[in-house]
Amino acid sequence: MKKIAHISDIHIGSPYFVDEWGRYVIKKVNEEKPEILVVTGDITDDGVLEMYEEAKKYLDEINVDKKILVPGNHDSRHAGYVIFEKFFGSRYPFYEDSKVAIFGIDSSQPDLNTGHIGREHYEEIKEKLSNPEKFNILALHHHLIPVPRTGRERQIPLDAGDVLELCTSSNIKMVLSGHRHLRWWWNLDGTYFITGGTATTKKLNGISYPSFNIIEIYKDKVSIREINVRDKKSREILGFERK
Ligand SMILES: [Fe+2]
Ligand SMILES: [Fe+2]
Repeated sequence: MKKIAHISDIHIGSPYFVDEWGRYVIKKVNEEKPEILVVTGDITDDGVLEMYEEAKKYLDEINVDKKILVPGNHDSRHAGYVIFEKFFGSRYPFYEDSKVAIFGIDSSQPDLNTGHIGREHYEEIKEKLSNPEKFNILALHHHLIPVPRTGRERQIPLDAGDVLELCTSSNIKMVLSGHRHLRWWWNLDGTYFITGGTATTKKLNGISYPSFNIIEIYKDKVSIREINVRDKKSREILGFERK
């Protein structure tokens, strides 16, 4: 079994950040002992150096060997994408072992909230996530399919249609994203699109709650549990057979 924690939109430095929730996320992920942590962006609230320093300290408290981090629109403000690379390495991180392959891509654009992947990355995405023996995961900040109950649709990547086609016509089994601050999933032609909620902030849509996901990949099936950071309850939100 391969266990992955997926957290998103922690917004370090935001006035909406709740310290108690932040502490709980660290504690709970450490208890779960995943092998891999995926953070799908908006790690900082405004992309400035001080916030990156704080975010680095925060994420260092999570005891996971492999961390795959991508920037969100908030991280790329104020040329924060440059600072991102200083603290967290490539904006296009790649990890693979005998069971999974995870490719993170930067869907942010400096000082814009709208996402964009870019044709120049399509071949690399296909190539890195091509092995049918592995569970292939693409990670990016922006949602590729609209998320209900999050208001008017905007900021979806400008080339979302092309990337959706790429995902559903390749060996990509799961796409992890964030940005909308509401946990949701879609299944499109056998590819699962998982949007993580905000794990640590009060910037919530309607009556919802902060959350993050634990993904368990077995030989024959995959299960996703949501951890509600407010009431600390855990429940399975999705389970499916691997074909
Ligand atoms: Fe966000
Ligand atoms: Fe965002």
